[in-house]
Amino acid sequence: MNIFIAGGTSGIGFAIAVNYLNAGHRVGICGRDTRKVRLDKDYPLLKMYQLDVYDKKALDTAVSDFADDRLDIMIVSAGNYSDSSFRKLSYRESTDMLKVNIAGAVNAMEIAREKMYRQQRGHIAVITSVSGLLDYPKATIYSKSKRALIQIADAYQAALSGFGINVTIIAPGYVNTPKLRELNENDLSKKPFVVSCEYAANIIIEGIEKKKDMIIFPSKMKYLIRFLSCLPSGLLSFIMQKKARWSQKR
Ligand SMILES: NC(=O)c1ccc[n+]([C@@H]2O[C@H](COP(=O)([O-])OP(=O)(O)OC[C@H]3O[C@@H](n4cnc5c(N)ncnc54)[C@H](OP(=O)(O)O)[C@@H]3O)[C@@H](O)[C@H]2O)c1
Repeated sequence: MNIFIAGGTSGIGFAIAVNYLNAGHRVGICGRDTRKVRLDKDYPLLKMYQLDVYDKKALDTAVSDFADDRLDIMIVSAGNYSDSSFRKLSYRESTDMLKVNIAGAVNAMEIAREKMYRQQRGHIAVITSVSGLLDYPKATIYSKSKRALIQIADAYQAALSGFGINVTIIAPGYVNTPKLRELNENDLSKKPFVVSCEYAANIIIEGIEKKKDMIIFPSKMKYLIRFLSCLPSGLLSFIMQKKARWSQKR
């Protein structure tokens, strides 16, 4: 298969890339800095592209270069998050987050949609977050952006299902990635139910194979989110803000 991963140079996207490469597939990955990619062996079926997903033309050129004849799977993993529940974000940080989490993700979905419509087949998988599953006032820009992305991906799912194109919405809980560690000074002890990148990659790949509409993991986080969703939004907002303050205390 030809698999392109928008945001595949580190973290969850990179773990998915390695998994697919080891299974013998062709994989294209992109990121703003491809120098960060650390491979333990040579992968002749891997192609890397240095670009910003906000730049639709650059992304389109890369995806066309990688798989103009047939794109089987597009995985949208590029995302930006920060400790915004704890401090006020700058204008730059806020817009950077919106640019990649919404505009960049839509660019990748659109490019895949155009190519897959011509083929009348394909699969788009969009990595959102469990934080986007909860609806409450004063949630962070990150949570709101991921909530918006879930809604957008849901619209793509409904629109494309009749044209041989599957869309899987992926909502991970905490995954032990370099970015999450960096934001938490290497201390993830206050993050519940953290899973490894390899665990996340396996669950995501299995979900894509089974053409699932939605994947929420790990299970414990899924049940916690289900419980929290039943709470009145004011109470949920209070709990989430308390939790954010507690988890930032070192
Ligand atoms: N880790 C978690 O606990 C967790 C939980 C829920 C959801 N998620 C979501 O999972 C996805 C991956 O997160 P991660 O933890 O694996 O983060 P990560 O290690 O920072 O990986 C993000 C990837 O996206 C790329 N990227 C970011 N901004 C980009 C841009 N503007 N243009 C092109 N590529 C860009 C990064 O490469 P460059 O920096 O080189 O551009 C990197 O390859 C994100 O969407 C995140 O919101 C993560």
